Amino acid sequence: MKQILAILFILACLTSNAQKSYLQESTAEKDKRMQWWRDATFGMFIHWGAYSVPAGEYKGKEVKGIAEWIMHSANIPIPEYEQFVREFNPQSFNAKEWVRIAKDAGVRYIVITSKHHDGFALWDSKVSGYDVMDFSPFKRDILKELTDACKAAGIKICFYHSIMDWHQPDAESKKDYPHQNTPNPDFARYRETYLKKQLTELITKYDPEVLWFDGEWIPEWTEEQGKDLYNFLRNLKPSLIINNRVGKGRSGMQGMNKYNDAAGDFGTPEQEILEGTSDSDWESCMTMNDTWGFSKYDHNWKSAEMLIDNLIDIAAKGGNYLLNVGPTSAGVIPPESVERLGEMGKWLKVNGEAIYATNSLKKYKEGDNIRYTTSKDGKYVYAMITKKSANIINIRQVKPKPGSKIYMLGVKEPLSWKFVSDGVDITFPNQLPCDYAWTLKIQQ
Ligand code: GLC
Repeated sequence: MKQILAILFILACLTSNAQKSYLQESTAEKDKRMQWWRDATFGMFIHWGAYSVPAGEYKGKEVKGIAEWIMHSANIPIPEYEQFVREFNPQSFNAKEWVRIAKDAGVRYIVITSKHHDGFALWDSKVSGYDVMDFSPFKRDILKELTDACKAAGIKICFYHSIMDWHQPDAESKKDYPHQNTPNPDFARYRETYLKKQLTELITKYDPEVLWFDGEWIPEWTEEQGKDLYNFLRNLKPSLIINNRVGKGRSGMQGMNKYNDAAGDFGTPEQEILEGTSDSDWESCMTMNDTWGFSKYDHNWKSAEMLIDNLIDIAAKGGNYLLNVGPTSAGVIPPESVERLGEMGKWLKVNGEAIYATNSLKKYKEGDNIRYTTSKDGKYVYAMITKKSANIINIRQVKPKPGSKIYMLGVKEPLSWKFVSDGVDITFPNQLPCDYAWTLKIQQ
């Protein structure tokens, strides 16, 4: 008997050891895994699901707050919310068109909601009947179509996935969604047989590059569970990148970790940009108006110039910019978003060299209107001038050598410049290559 027990014990140890631990990793290994993501700098967030049907309105009234939270904010009972899912039939959805818009914007990766807090899955899930194939009339695998279009266009596909789930009876969330009211919720069962199973599907069927978690704040979720999930997923796909909302480390909207060994690869500031540079990887996710999911009431659009300023500020501080669009229930990215993305793409065509695959400098700014990045080989510093009051720009922080060349991106001839008592004066060309935010490329 003892021998049998000993054998069973050894077998148990062996099988648990079959899971490699990915929680410790050398800096070189992490650098290698994160490289494409760091270089990409600019991503597109897509919040899309059944909430695009009510689009911020319930029973004829506007519901305040972010549109993808409508189930919660308007306290909609599950059977009623399911009606929106039954109406979700985005006949104009065209994955190739979305990817074309992203590509023209200069976006290098897309993060789409595979499942938001409402629990509705945008792919063909065999784990759940609450998905686009079984529950909605649409019956097209949205994630597959988008993944294929992304892969064909050389854009990395990534998924946002909510840990909190207002629809799954075992996911509890009583505090967050009182309507769930299940008699015997079993969170461990939800975690092991639903959440992990769906994530396994996502990885094995669509091979995403990033998993972007959210809804980790529910009391049922713990740092240990986060670490376990992190490890589980990297065992399925070792090169996977996972945000810090997989565990409990995130400190509020500022988004960086409050303790050292928190699970996850990058911090997630939300609707804000870090004050300065950081030793950790980070990505600011932000909306173009005030909501993530589509709302027919939200017309508070930021200007293209402001979005470009944000991109510049984030890149100079060494972060990534994940900029959101919320398509309509017809499957259309709002024209206001398309227009702004188009402007950003136009700007990036000229100035992208200063944004993608650059390094940040400790002194990344000079005053309010100058932001610096540097080429990886250190041969050039880029000074992005977001506003100018005169045709001569004075910079103090970066000193070219005598005889160094200074260019403006998008202009062929080198600019004329001279040393002055406080730094250098650089004369702008007569013809500017873009409407705002000009980049000086300063040879070192
Ligand atoms: C918040 C919201 C959510 C949104 C997310 C984006 O955590 O709960 O609706 O998806 O932010 O970062």
